[in-house]
Amino acid sequence: MSDLILKDFTEKLTNIGDLDRLEELRLEFLGKKGLVSQELATLGKLDPTQRQAKGKTLNLLKNQILAELQNKKTELANQALEKQLNSEALDVTLPSRNLPTGSLHPITQVTAEIVDIFANLGFSAVDGPEIEDDHHNFTALNIAENHPARQMHDTFYLQDLKYLLRTHTSSVQIRTMENGKPPFAIIAPGKTYRSDSDATHTPMFHQIEALYIAENVSMANLKYCIKSFTEKFFGEKIDLRFRSSFFPFTEPSAEVDIGCKMHADHIDLKGSGDYLEIMGCGMVHPNVLANVGIDPEKYNGFALGMGIERIAMLKYGMRDLRQFFNPKPDWSACYNFKPHQIA
Ligand code: DAH
Repeated sequence: MSDLILKDFTEKLTNIGDLDRLEELRLEFLGKKGLVSQELATLGKLDPTQRQAKGKTLNLLKNQILAELQNKKTELANQALEKQLNSEALDVTLPSRNLPTGSLHPITQVTAEIVDIFANLGFSAVDGPEIEDDHHNFTALNIAENHPARQMHDTFYLQDLKYLLRTHTSSVQIRTMENGKPPFAIIAPGKTYRSDSDATHTPMFHQIEALYIAENVSMANLKYCIKSFTEKFFGEKIDLRFRSSFFPFTEPSAEVDIGCKMHADHIDLKGSGDYLEIMGCGMVHPNVLANVGIDPEKYNGFALGMGIERIAMLKYGMRDLRQFFNPKPDWSACYNFKPHQIA
């Protein structure tokens, strides 16, 4: 009898491929109403000698079935694990998906390059607020209340004219000098705002300001600084022109132009015939120094301010300012701009 049960069990066991079916098989043989249990229930009716012999055989059978069930259980669990490992395996040798890589915006990149060049000339970068007051943006810079320059700046005012969006980074000159003692050698990049919008103007644009205050500073120092900067920035000797100009906060004042050739779709820095203005500059006006409590008899210096979009366009030969604000610009296809990839 027990041989038949074992044969039946072994046959059924070989065909089982999952744990649920294995449990069913266990119940079929070892469950309360299972085949082995039914046999065990007959023991009571046997005489003692038969009972002992059959009891022993049935116990051996029960243990063997239990052992085989356990083996099968381990085998099925191992198979399931292997299957899972195979289906979830990562092939680290596969090539990565081709995601578009980001790069620094030309304005960010050019700003960093300019700051870097000035850092090598001994200037440290400083920051100032974009929301300014009248004093720092105008009055302290020798632009009096009724000065026509105020109208020229197309200022965005806030809160009953109490505050404004800074129209230039020159306000950082004042903040720097108010909060320290000369000598100063600073560079201040940042956003500036004017209510002006056409093909060559955007209401928000970027400027970079430099200020150098010490003793016995001359216009020659200013020229040297600008020449060193432009040669390093444009990577070549370029045709620089200092043109006499006027700014309320500098005296004398100049504008700096770069010789180039303007073509319909690009600007050629190696060409000649045209000039493009890149910055305003001059010797800091004694009134400005006095306004921040610096003795103009003892100290003097120079300042300069340039438009970053303008200088970036020149460097990359671009003619359209709007390219900077295109939400999906393809800089790689843009002129000769080489973006720094972000790692
Ligand atoms: N702040 C001037 C502007 O926005 C530019 C400028 C001119 C800055 C002369 C200077 C400077 O520091 O000396 O038009």
